Amino acid sequence: MDFNTSQTKENLARIFAGECQDGARYQFIAKCATSQGLSYLADTMKMLAKHEMAHAGVIYDFLLKYGGGKMENIEISAGYPFEDYHLESSFKSCSGAELSQAKNIYPHFAKIAIDEGFKDIASSLKLISDVEYMHSQVLLEMAQKYNAKKLYKSAEAKNWMCSNCGHRHILKEAWKTCPLCSYPQGYVAVSFESLQ
Ligand SMILES: [Fe+2]
Ligand SMILES: [Fe+2]
Repeated sequence: MDFNTSQTKENLARIFAGECQDGARYQFIAKCATSQGLSYLADTMKMLAKHEMAHAGVIYDFLLKYGGGKMENIEISAGYPFEDYHLESSFKSCSGAELSQAKNIYPHFAKIAIDEGFKDIASSLKLISDVEYMHSQVLLEMAQKYNAKKLYKSAEAKNWMCSNCGHRHILKEAWKTCPLCSYPQGYVAVSFESLQ
């Protein structure tokens, strides 16, 4: 099928816009976490933002490849939510959006790409879906631990690590101030099962 008249062309443009937005939103949330002293959470959000920009890059490359190195302006319309950032609600709402990308939107777009004969695009969309599912789970864990005030508490003693200096110690609750580098608790690495 001719790419220029395909639905896949428009779908890629939508995905590109969505991925860029996710990348921006996660950087805004990272700023919000930093302002609360939660440096490790901020770093994790910056990592997710980096993934989103990499996804945007993969999609951009497909548009260039099928557009012969250049693509005319693609008109799309979509809803773009603008919410204030509050960690109590932002992790959860982002997790929901990621889950919908992973389980509904991208698999649907991948199926259309297969039907239209763009197998390489479909394969990449499936791989991106897997990453978005992982994001949805990390963000869900963040929401649960942050909202329950359990980022730095564990039922069982566990090995905590300062992300600044690498100091480690087995405790039920992470230190308030690192005994080695004096950095605050927000630098202690939070272990996310979905990132293992
Ligand atoms: Fe993404
Ligand atoms: Fe994502």
